[in-house]
Amino acid sequence: MSTSKTSWIENEISALKEAGLFNTIRTIESPMDGRVTINGRSLLNFCANNYLGLANHPQIRAAAQQAITEYGVGPGAVRSIAGTMSLHIALEQRLAAFKQVEACITFQSGFTANLAAIPALVGKGDIIFSDELNHASIIDGSRLSRAQVVRYAHNNVNDLRRAISETTEYGRRLIVTDGVFSMDGDIAPLDKICEVAEEHDIMLMVDDAHGEGVLGRGGRGIVDHFGLHGRVDIEVGTLSKAFGVMGGLVAGKQIIIDWLRQRGRPFLFSSAMTVPDVAACIQAVDLLEESTTLVDKLWQNAEIFKTGLKALGFNTGETETPIVPVMLGDAPLAQEFSRHLFEKGVFAMAISYPTVPRGKARIRVMNSAAHDKNDLEEALEAFREVGTQLGVL
Ligand SMILES: Cc1ncc(COP(=O)(O)O)c(C=O)c1O
Repeated sequence: MSTSKTSWIENEISALKEAGLFNTIRTIESPMDGRVTINGRSLLNFCANNYLGLANHPQIRAAAQQAITEYGVGPGAVRSIAGTMSLHIALEQRLAAFKQVEACITFQSGFTANLAAIPALVGKGDIIFSDELNHASIIDGSRLSRAQVVRYAHNNVNDLRRAISETTEYGRRLIVTDGVFSMDGDIAPLDKICEVAEEHDIMLMVDDAHGEGVLGRGGRGIVDHFGLHGRVDIEVGTLSKAFGVMGGLVAGKQIIIDWLRQRGRPFLFSSAMTVPDVAACIQAVDLLEESTTLVDKLWQNAEIFKTGLKALGFNTGETETPIVPVMLGDAPLAQEFSRHLFEKGVFAMAISYPTVPRGKARIRVMNSAAHDKNDLEEALEAFREVGTQLGVL
């Protein structure tokens, strides 16, 4: 019977529900912004990675609409077969200039950028040194490559050195790390990692999904933040977070980008970014190049929120960025905390196992330039009330 084939899924889902780990996804009835509408109610939004508020920015919307009028909607096929639209080339040139690299290639998402880059660089017989907390797309890209993966302790350069010294047989080697770790908001010590990579002549790749548009001068990313221009071989980024749209990128030396156009499987076997997405991203680069106002506001907001939470007595972990984890420990407590915040008009998600280790459940606050001072005060008051009610404070 067909039901018996899938009854294991019912069991798994029941187990998740019993453990308080079943993720119920909210439906947003408005544009993604500093406030969103859910079940007809307006709530303050601290869940999105819409760091700069660009997801619903009037100029970004207008650019997407204008591009549809001029170029239609879809790219029609993969670029290597159907030809590449001039818009995609324009975006890649603009991104390369913005990030001060020789060249750039775009993908459908940050996730597919990792799936493209890693297997194109290493394969069977090669070694990947990977931070133990790297993002799922790095893990999946590494698995697809069939290279051996050697994990090193999170952000621990000494452990990276140890791992390198213990591997004596290898073909090509790649060190890969997230730039900003999305669950804790801490930053990889990329300057030190870069020294290690150079000492041992190992390729270095950073996934800057949460640093793009956030770190560095005017949001130019982690390589700019550390002043490492020309020294990091592969920068992966996303256009789905601070850029407010959808898409991924790899930036670096021309030769590497040329290689990805020949061997990046999501580039060769999946259609390109859509027309409105590309035009919206070009407009986002325009906005970032014109002014640092949005990036500055993001950091100011994050500072106000972090200071406020700490003053109330919350544990905000090791964050160095606008991602603020409010550490609660227990998964059911975090879920309850999130539900109470929701009732008070604040949408902030509980994150628990398997996204973070067991016993390290939290509310993850994503700050955004889309919030104003009143929004932050309102949200802090809700955190105070719920924290007191649930005995966390
Ligand atoms: C480090 C990292 N890499 C890649 C991605 C995937 O990016 P995208 O949403 O563009 O696929 C994410 C998003 O969660 C991320 O945090």
